[in-house]
Amino acid sequence: MIGVSKAFGGVHALRDVDFDLRRGEIHGLVGENGAGKSTMMKIIAGVYHGFEGEMRVNGERVEFRSPRDALAAGIGMVHQELSIVPDLTVAENVFLGVQPTAAGVVNWARMKREARKQLSTLGLEVDPAARMGSLPVGLQQLVELSRVLFSGARIIILDEPTSALSPPEVQRLFQALRRLREQGRTIVFISHFLDDVLEISDRITVFRNGHKVITDDTANFTKDSVISHMIGRGSAEMHMGESAELVGDDSKPVVLEARALDDGLMVKDVSLKLRAGEITGVYGFMGCGQVELSRLLFGKGALRRGQLLLNGKPVRLRSTAAARKAGIAYVPENRGMMLFRTEQVFKNISIAILDKINRLFLKPRREREIAEIHIKDLQIRPPRTDIALGNLSGGNQQKVALAKWLTHLPKVLILSEPTRGMDVGAKEDVIRIVKSLRDRGVAVLVLSTEPETILTLADRVTVLRRGVVAKEFTSGRLEKADLLDAA
Ligand SMILES: Nc1ncnc2c1ncn2[C@@H]1O[C@H](COP(=O)(O)OP(=O)(O)O)[C@@H](O)[C@H]1O
Ligand SMILES: [Mg+2]
Repeated sequence: MIGVSKAFGGVHALRDVDFDLRRGEIHGLVGENGAGKSTMMKIIAGVYHGFEGEMRVNGERVEFRSPRDALAAGIGMVHQELSIVPDLTVAENVFLGVQPTAAGVVNWARMKREARKQLSTLGLEVDPAARMGSLPVGLQQLVELSRVLFSGARIIILDEPTSALSPPEVQRLFQALRRLREQGRTIVFISHFLDDVLEISDRITVFRNGHKVITDDTANFTKDSVISHMIGRGSAEMHMGESAELVGDDSKPVVLEARALDDGLMVKDVSLKLRAGEITGVYGFMGCGQVELSRLLFGKGALRRGQLLLNGKPVRLRSTAAARKAGIAYVPENRGMMLFRTEQVFKNISIAILDKINRLFLKPRREREIAEIHIKDLQIRPPRTDIALGNLSGGNQQKVALAKWLTHLPKVLILSEPTRGMDVGAKEDVIRIVKSLRDRGVAVLVLSTEPETILTLADRVTVLRRGVVAKEFTSGRLEKADLLDAA
């Protein structure tokens, strides 16, 4: 890849990046969220074709117009997002698009036999006739991996393939990758798990903010040096959210306590104490189980083991309604779920007080007046209560989602990715709102995959890693590098 640039609208995902792969190497590619890793790989795999720069395979200039073209040139990719078909069988998923046929008829017996053989080389004892959707996510991910690993591709790109895998599964995958390397195949391994990258790769490339920072032999890196290349520490780019002064106070009353929560899948033995007047941050990479954890705390997931205590008393949250009734508010990562996009802004704000004040007795004019106070307070733009919520930008919708809870203080407020995808101004507003809720005594939980968000908001931090509490930071200085390291 020579001088590759790619922009989406105004966003420069890649700027003048050179990148090369050698025959028979495992190449680790790392960088923070949004660094441009997936974009570069999608260009190589023929997903994106409009880009600046040049691509050569074995010295020959190539132009792919589709993933099919890339596949024909021997390049296969496992995408970050699972692309399995849940309603098909495991065997059909393994052979998606390339089913073995005889005289135009799919040879089911052969397909099952070969699928079983392939899967067993990854150490998987899965029934090829099982419905894909019935498998746990980790297994689905391995089945998808096996599809590309055994497709015969000479260049195999794995974009964050281990996020849902357990350590033994990762080791089995690594064995398979090493065998492929011996056959002269080339593998790109993208991962946030730096220990994994350092273990499996021959060379490592670091991307930051659309640029390539460095490519070198793995032997020349340490975990610390990889992290500092990733975050640009030491350069002039120090900015907000690089570190935080934690002020966790164990004397504050515990409002919600999670004891050894376990959903049998993504959340393993997680304990957590949320205190009044404190913001607890939960940090971890994508797929670390934080989404599932937040749902357990809000009565949305099935709890296999463990216990929740509210003000010291055991509670069972059988539904989100039960959680809300107990005083637990939840603003999910997909905030559209909790809002009524076609309803006017003022209705979205007053909805939180519907339980308390019968809407019939609340005059529309009064309802609007309340909303207008908040809109001014929160600097919601445009400052109008009468337009449909769906017409506001994401950041402003998030403010409306939070505004509801200003009207009616919850005991516990759970926020998943509260500032994701927002511009700086909206981010600052949201940060201000969340802190003011904390200062009014709410026990706040912020779950995020963005270190800046955690460092800006949290009074104390719990780091999750593959569903397990990896580390807790309570007080003192916390650097971004410590967070990444723990995760
Ligand atoms: N399809 C897209 N449309 C608009 N912006 C995109 C798209 N894909 C990626 N981006 C943006 O490009 C940048 C790089 O993204 P990506 O390549 O996915 O990073 P990484 O894989 O390193 O996390 C980010 O700012 C992201 O928001
Ligand atoms: Mg990516």
